[in-house]
Amino acid sequence: MSTEPRVPNLPPDERPRMTLPRIAEMKRLGERIAMVTAYDFPSAKVAEEAGVDIVLVGDSGAMTVLGYDSTVPIGMEEMLMLSAAVRRGLKTPLLVGDMPFGSYENSNEQAILNAQRFIKEAGCDAVKLERGGASVDRARAIVRAGIPVMGHVGLTPQTATALGGYKAQGRTGERAGQIAEDAFALQAVGCFAIVFEAVPAAVSEAMMPRVEVPVIGIGAGPATDGQVLVFHDLLGIHTGHTPRFVKRYGKVHDAMVAGVSAYVDDVRSGVFPDDSHTYSIDPEELEAFARFLDQDTLAGSNPWDW
Ligand code: KIV
Repeated sequence: MSTEPRVPNLPPDERPRMTLPRIAEMKRLGERIAMVTAYDFPSAKVAEEAGVDIVLVGDSGAMTVLGYDSTVPIGMEEMLMLSAAVRRGLKTPLLVGDMPFGSYENSNEQAILNAQRFIKEAGCDAVKLERGGASVDRARAIVRAGIPVMGHVGLTPQTATALGGYKAQGRTGERAGQIAEDAFALQAVGCFAIVFEAVPAAVSEAMMPRVEVPVIGIGAGPATDGQVLVFHDLLGIHTGHTPRFVKRYGKVHDAMVAGVSAYVDDVRSGVFPDDSHTYSIDPEELEAFARFLDQDTLAGSNPWDW
């Protein structure tokens, strides 16, 4: 597999907008696909400037930006608000909206209506949904309605409880076989790409020759066509436990705490603001203002007496 990008990292203004055929071409040419999550305008701008190929407004935003303790509680309105903010910060990467738990499982009609909302109201290019099984029918229905769908197999956080918690999946021949069946079914109904989450590297490697659509891995080893990481994990925007598959490329939380602490110290000691952060006024204007303040009519006047 070649590691040299065929299209070099062009500046954002010259970069062509990412398309589904181009994503498929990247797989064909062995160019690795870089995907990241984003949840707001500034994180979208960062993804844009960094030259990311696909941006996912993940339902992981439930935990990273909304403070829920799992991805389950986040709803359509919240996902649409986050997605629309990302859209405003993004020009070239493909934008995928993650369908939240409860927004697609009930019926194909429900799935199509909510997928359409991601496209019409938030400006997404595609949607993602989790699991095989009944989700395969939903994916088929959404694809038939003209909306590109990304699948997601392996560890599917919306149903983590049923999977025994947030842990690697497909570690027995039988479970790996089920994951493969889900992936093949999702590709058969027209998913343009599939996320493999938390599956042994050897399992994804064995599946790769049989998957014709791009596979984006997260904790699935190096054999997949691309990788995705959660923005807050990769930059260290939060502290605490991160899964084994996360590689940290920054300590942004520590940098932010250091910055805000320095500001607090400066405010308390009076070091901030200094002359360089304050506005001036002409001395004559200041004198005129002083005369205004000295007027007898002002002294003791009732500010509520209009
Ligand atoms: O919600 C999310 O961030 C995801 C990625 C981890 C693939 O589904």
